[in-house]
Amino acid sequence: MASPQEYDVVVVGGGPGGYAAALYAASAGLAVAVVEKDKVGGTCLHRGCIPAKEFLETAAVFRTVTTAKEFGIQAEQPAIDFSVSQQRKQKVVDQLWKGLAGLMKRRKIVTFAGTGTLHADHLVRVSDGTELVGRYVVLAPGSVPRSIPGFEVGDGPVLSSDELLDLDHLPATAVVIGGGAIGCEFASMMSDLGTQVTILEALPKLLPGCDADVVAVVARSFKRRGIDVHTGVTVHGHTPVDGRTTVSFGEGEQVSVDAVVVSVGRRPLTEGLLADGTGVALDERGFVAVDEHCRTAAAGVYAVGDAVATPQLAHVGFAEAIVAVRDMLSEDPVPVDYERVPWCIYTHPEVAFVGLSEEAARHAGHDVIVKKDPFAGNGRALILGEPEGLVKVVAERAADGTAGRILGVHMVGPWVTEQLGQAYLAVNWEATATEVAHFIQPHPTLSEVFGETVMALTGRGLHVS
Ligand code: NAI
Repeated sequence: MASPQEYDVVVVGGGPGGYAAALYAASAGLAVAVVEKDKVGGTCLHRGCIPAKEFLETAAVFRTVTTAKEFGIQAEQPAIDFSVSQQRKQKVVDQLWKGLAGLMKRRKIVTFAGTGTLHADHLVRVSDGTELVGRYVVLAPGSVPRSIPGFEVGDGPVLSSDELLDLDHLPATAVVIGGGAIGCEFASMMSDLGTQVTILEALPKLLPGCDADVVAVVARSFKRRGIDVHTGVTVHGHTPVDGRTTVSFGEGEQVSVDAVVVSVGRRPLTEGLLADGTGVALDERGFVAVDEHCRTAAAGVYAVGDAVATPQLAHVGFAEAIVAVRDMLSEDPVPVDYERVPWCIYTHPEVAFVGLSEEAARHAGHDVIVKKDPFAGNGRALILGEPEGLVKVVAERAADGTAGRILGVHMVGPWVTEQLGQAYLAVNWEATATEVAHFIQPHPTLSEVFGETVMALTGRGLHVS
């Protein structure tokens, strides 16, 4: 048998965590191999962020055409051919996929097709028998949708995000189980494109983890657009008949639909990842246990991305990959500050936030000052015809009673996912309201709402006080 091929770094899994580790290590001059069982790009590129946002943009185009007559543009009431949307989505995904594969090749990263299993002494065995040894190993196997008993995917009209993103037509009616980020994005998209949507969420409000004022705006918009939201409900089961199904929930309530979308979280994909004797430990929920430098319990073996118990976001995977590689290079990296990562949810209206919600800040014992500014008073938002939403800034009360350090920024409204950047910097730079208020916001822009809110925190404002 041939002896194992040797690399500086062997990465198991080619999603955002894995490919970022590979690219960053290669750019530092390390020899890198990636083992990927499907396509590089992972969930984010093929079954998550990118295809979901592509369909949300399809919904935005539909809304734009629907409201065109308000601008004096005579357009017919639009109709959707989702098979064309599906083709466009695939074109975007394939272009990004080819770009990524080309970039990895140019960095001389060698990709092995198959499933990788880690054995003792940094040996990774690929399912075709190939053996690789890395001075370092990065585990980035990702995650898969969680299911709930009685709602097995493939069981008639039950879908997870994976199946929904591959449909060539949307169901006329759908139940979405789970009102988190995935559930709300799909509900928003399907509703805008004509599906009658019901959301069933176990907790008392949608988007758990988001600031209550932000959730209220999303919930109001969903209600106005006819999305039937039931929070604090238990889902009991479903009875399929002739391709449709009747879902029972709450106190004897039922709804009959064409599709059930299960979006109740994602679990780490660690089955078959570890042979005996690796020294890598999993936690009680099956996530790979790591320290703040993404080091597992086995020396020289790291884990990043959705398979570790940190926010399951592609950009967190990128950040963890950089921390892991810099640790290999003995560069003493700054750990990821998980309390202050950027969050972006691409519903209509969009949600973006960083840092503590008002409730979490108070719960953590902070004496806080809070200011809010609605988009309804913003020129650009009115021009866009999207005045719904607000910016809310939570700051620590300084000893003299004025607003001090900015603890959290919460946005809901037009293009807030693209506006979060300066809020992210402010929170992570531990800037005070006075420091941030000093900076100029271009006019007319949506970002003036953030500037106005921060200025109001200084005790004086232009439009907001
Ligand atoms: P999630 O954990 O964000 O939300 C799942 C929701 O399902 C929760 O609200 C939970 O209370 C509810 N739930 C759980 N079991 C239930 C049941 N039996 N009946 C009714 N409701 C139930 O998970 P989600 O939305 O599936 O997303 C998975 C991961 O991917 C998350 O970490 C999420 O943050 C991330 N993601 C982030 C996106 C973004 O930031 N734009 C987009 C998509 C996913």
